[in-house]
Amino acid sequence: PVLVVDFGAQYAQLIARRIREANIYSEIVPSTMSLAAMLAKEPAAVVLSGGPSSVYAEGAPQIDAALFDAGVPVFGICYGFQAMATALGGRVDQTGRREYGGTTLNVTGKDSRLLRDLPDQVNVWMSHGDSVAEAPAGFTVTAHTVDTPIAAFENLERRFAGVQYHPEVVHSEHGQEVLKRFLYDVAGLEPGWTADSILTDQIDLIRAQIGDRKVICGLSGGVDSAVAAAIVHKAVGDQLTCVFVDHGLLRAGEREQVQRDYVAATGIKLVTVDAQEQFLTALAGVTEPEAKRKIIGREFIRSFENAAASIAQEEGGVDFLVQGTLYPDVVESGGGTGTATIKSHHNVGGLPDDLKFALVEPLRALFKDEVRLLGAELGLPPEIVGRQPFPGPGLGIRIIGEVTHARLELLRTADAIVREELTAAGLDTAIWQCPVVLLAEVRSVGVQGDGRTYGHPIVLRPVSSEDAMTADWSRIPYDLLAKISNRITGEVADVNRVVLDITSKPPGTIEWE
Ligand code: XMP
Repeated sequence: PVLVVDFGAQYAQLIARRIREANIYSEIVPSTMSLAAMLAKEPAAVVLSGGPSSVYAEGAPQIDAALFDAGVPVFGICYGFQAMATALGGRVDQTGRREYGGTTLNVTGKDSRLLRDLPDQVNVWMSHGDSVAEAPAGFTVTAHTVDTPIAAFENLERRFAGVQYHPEVVHSEHGQEVLKRFLYDVAGLEPGWTADSILTDQIDLIRAQIGDRKVICGLSGGVDSAVAAAIVHKAVGDQLTCVFVDHGLLRAGEREQVQRDYVAATGIKLVTVDAQEQFLTALAGVTEPEAKRKIIGREFIRSFENAAASIAQEEGGVDFLVQGTLYPDVVESGGGTGTATIKSHHNVGGLPDDLKFALVEPLRALFKDEVRLLGAELGLPPEIVGRQPFPGPGLGIRIIGEVTHARLELLRTADAIVREELTAAGLDTAIWQCPVVLLAEVRSVGVQGDGRTYGHPIVLRPVSSEDAMTADWSRIPYDLLAKISNRITGEVADVNRVVLDITSKPPGTIEWE
């Protein structure tokens, strides 16, 4: 792999993704990992990421200078650029000038392998206080900015290069091109990481792990479990049984989509558990969000366990459970720093230990966009592959107040209208997701037809986001909002008002509960 050394900023995952978009496999490692452990991974190249520290600050993360004697190509970005310069005998100064945001990069190295044929001036994204003041011996300086005399350098003989700016962010023009040039032209790597090759590798691994034993998978309707199950099915066929728990908190058409479209596309054996009454009974009278989430999680596990037990009986034992764990989860939990639980997320991961399944996690090395590519490669329908995120507890956490049958019906109708209109307007990819929320305990006065009404508000919460960690509210055209509002108040009984949530995250979370 190409190792991306994480110096503690949010950029490492983005860099790793960009490298993979260049069809080369990459992995993230913490900067605290020993050089021996890094080299044990036989890196094809090492990329030193950006980070929040100053290379001179006490306790600033360091890179073992022996890395540069290991014969491995190295690319330094931002902090990594400075760490590289320092380790190789160059000098980094605190200039007192800070560059943040867009800056003009003046490209001077016409023979540069990294920057050749770029325009003389390129807009790039900077974020630094310190600057490299003196390049290490043997390096050619190839670019500068107004405030940074050394903004890019390279040493082709040793296959080293670096840039002060962030080529991985979309605001840096030609960023991906520069990254590719490092990988292909400086490091000499061959692109070979494609959906096709990932699939072949994963199928071999799964066959080796499962052999001729039995495996089950919980489907949520979401893209991760759908793709994970499809890969496992491709590998071991009918040794896999899928379980879909219909908790009654699904959106319109979701159950049918899984039962019909997904099964048609994959040929997977599917058991649907009809647990609507069980969930509604358990949720009766409950309004507190965390309590709802816990109950839904608990009932989900219960239903899944029961289904698993009867499948195990029929199949003569089940040894494996498929999970759609993604690479960011692995990186983030491997980071070790316990992040606060803001909301208790529920998925099949909450299964108790005494179920005694070994886990099969075919997506453990993949980013979300790669999962979608694989899904397409596996022939899954676009409605499943391109699906926006939807929380496990479903509409249960989008009814503010007690969850009842009637309220679920109402919210399902409103939600279907919103989805239909956003899709028709071609906004499905521009919008990350759009929760539709029913304020079931709020009423306001309205006038509909000839009469006074006293109905509930529906909240629209369209957001744009890269990863759901942060989000902004989507600027949806007014005309479209008007259309949605008219349709909801006209078509959904007991709703007489539609409001728009204009809060970013933070401070608001995406969901209301
Ligand atoms: P918040 O509300 O925390 O949501 O800003 C971030 C993202 O996570 C989704 N979400 C969940 N997904 N189980 C899930 O699988 C959950 O319990 C859950 N809660 C929130 C939410 O839709 C958004 O995409």
